[in-house]
Amino acid sequence: MKIIHKIEELKNILKDKRTLEIGLVPTMGALHEGHASLIKKSVEQNDFTVVSVFVNPVQFGINEDFDKYPRTLEKDAKLCENLGADIVFAPAVDEMYQDTKELTLVCPPYSAINKLCGKSRPGHFDGVATVVSKLFNITGCTKAYFGQKDAQQLFIIKKMVKDLNFNVEIVPCPIVRENDGLALSSRNSYLKEESREDALKLYKALKYAKELRQKGINDRQILCDSALKILEGTLVDYIEIVNPETFEDWQDEKEPALMLIAAKIAPTDTRLIDNMEI
Ligand code: PAJ
Repeated sequence: MKIIHKIEELKNILKDKRTLEIGLVPTMGALHEGHASLIKKSVEQNDFTVVSVFVNPVQFGINEDFDKYPRTLEKDAKLCENLGADIVFAPAVDEMYQDTKELTLVCPPYSAINKLCGKSRPGHFDGVATVVSKLFNITGCTKAYFGQKDAQQLFIIKKMVKDLNFNVEIVPCPIVRENDGLALSSRNSYLKEESREDALKLYKALKYAKELRQKGINDRQILCDSALKILEGTLVDYIEIVNPETFEDWQDEKEPALMLIAAKIAPTDTRLIDNMEI
């Protein structure tokens, strides 16, 4: 397995692999079993797998955690190698962006970003769509792997691929959780031991809402309020129920329902997200 830092070098390697199926797994590193599940799937389904490791400044707000985001490239590369990936692409910021202030951006439509994470993180999804477009163009991948953990991101990327006619198949991958239900996330490393109970409340709230639905409760207010009770002690950013196909508000009990939660966990103010079909 090779670690490549330069765009031209990666393009040269991939130039004579045009007839092969190339799988891309975009990540920001600090890899865990959630990322590993995407990499495993790509290795299974493609001739060649590229894992990108890039903490993308354009998707972070000014008061967000870009500087302190965990960077563990050596460990990440070992995991990728063990999983059978062919290349880790880890460019420096100035290799990807000459000038982030004068950058052509890919901007998802307002309707897709004026809710959920997009609402509290202005510009975030422009940054995600832009870097993912660049990675698609740099690698010429035929398939790309995204986790359902970031459900709104997955929805936006699928829409972008359709709207902009990228020749890439998006492969959604299920959420990987710890044994107790906590969704794996690179940001879990910010949590203090004593905050774990609060962190688990996101999963518990989603599971409870699912149980209520199974008992025949279809009132969105009751479902959200019941989940909110379980989230007490955390700082809830949003709790919403949407139709997972359209990401519009869930209106009708016959539609599938995806509940999504974002909450900050004390004392480190770690912002966690999770979701579940209920
Ligand atoms: P990152 O947070 O590193 O996540 C990379 C991919 O791993 C995403 O598709 C995410 O949904 C998936 N993932 C993370 N935790 C997961 C879990 N517990 N189970 C399953 N999949 C999981 O998402 C990003 O990076 C960035 O926004 C990126 C797409 C790389 C663009 O910069």
